[in-house]
Amino acid sequence: MARQAIIIDCDPGVDDALALLLALASADELDLLGISVVAGNAALAKTRYNAQRILALAGRAEVPVHAGAAGPMLVDLRTADVHGDDGVGGAALPEPAAPLASVNAVSYLCDTLAARSGKITLCCLGPLTNLGLAIGQNKDAPNLARRVVMMGGAAAGGNVTGYAEFNFFVDPHAARLVFQSGAELVMIGLDLTRQVPITPARLDQIAALGNKAGQAAHAMLTFYCRGDTAMHDPCVIAYLLAPTLFSGRKAWVDIEIDDPERIGQSVVREIPDGGKGNALVLDKIDADGFFDLLCERLARLP
Ligand code: RIB
Ligand code: CA
Repeated sequence: MARQAIIIDCDPGVDDALALLLALASADELDLLGISVVAGNAALAKTRYNAQRILALAGRAEVPVHAGAAGPMLVDLRTADVHGDDGVGGAALPEPAAPLASVNAVSYLCDTLAARSGKITLCCLGPLTNLGLAIGQNKDAPNLARRVVMMGGAAAGGNVTGYAEFNFFVDPHAARLVFQSGAELVMIGLDLTRQVPITPARLDQIAALGNKAGQAAHAMLTFYCRGDTAMHDPCVIAYLLAPTLFSGRKAWVDIEIDDPERIGQSVVREIPDGGKGNALVLDKIDADGFFDLLCERLARLP
């Protein structure tokens, strides 16, 4: 498989942190050009700081971190308790080893996707606010990516309300803009990520890695598992590394923005064979294969 140029847009966040570590441990397959950060699991000041610290932990401080939106496009920010007050479960992480990049995330996305049109896979692990704002600057921004692979949504049952998943709930308007953009979208929602829970045995396996990354991952996950066990965001990176672990189907996805009870819901409509749809919706994963990959790659880190 050719080495893939990627940008990761995220809101670290414990599972975002694991996704970043998985990507950083896979440099032969993934050329991580940069990270853009958004408010979501925690306020922007915390999510950008956490991204910098994860890079320091992995010894990859050369990867630029671009700070983005401090809140959703139209609604008030709602953060998530499950990641702790600092966003990483209170884990002892190193201090940043490099300053934030001077260019804001929205400009970074627009400029970089345009400069390498059709070549970059954009991995979205948080609310889609940065990409939504990029569309405001250039309506074709998502289409300039080779594809957009995102964690978000659910065909059946949310995790914030009965309908809406957190990333799409936090910024439903940005999500709707992205799904209306015509870009090549891959949606990895709760239907899939709920199939990869961190079990005590898997937590022990991570603790036994014996390296700093394993220790940090174990500390973050130990806190995280009090409220959620699903390994949501690392599934996005695992899909790039091992797509045969996944399966799904093309579908038509609409994002609810009007009904206050269902706001942020991803309404997934099946399409007749051969129909185009607006997203590849992945709904099955080989859970053991995923965790074997995650642990094998975490072991490669310092
Ligand atoms: O619903 C799970 C998603 O919301 C994950 O990306 C998690 O990090 C939070 O951002
Ligand atoms: Ca996230």
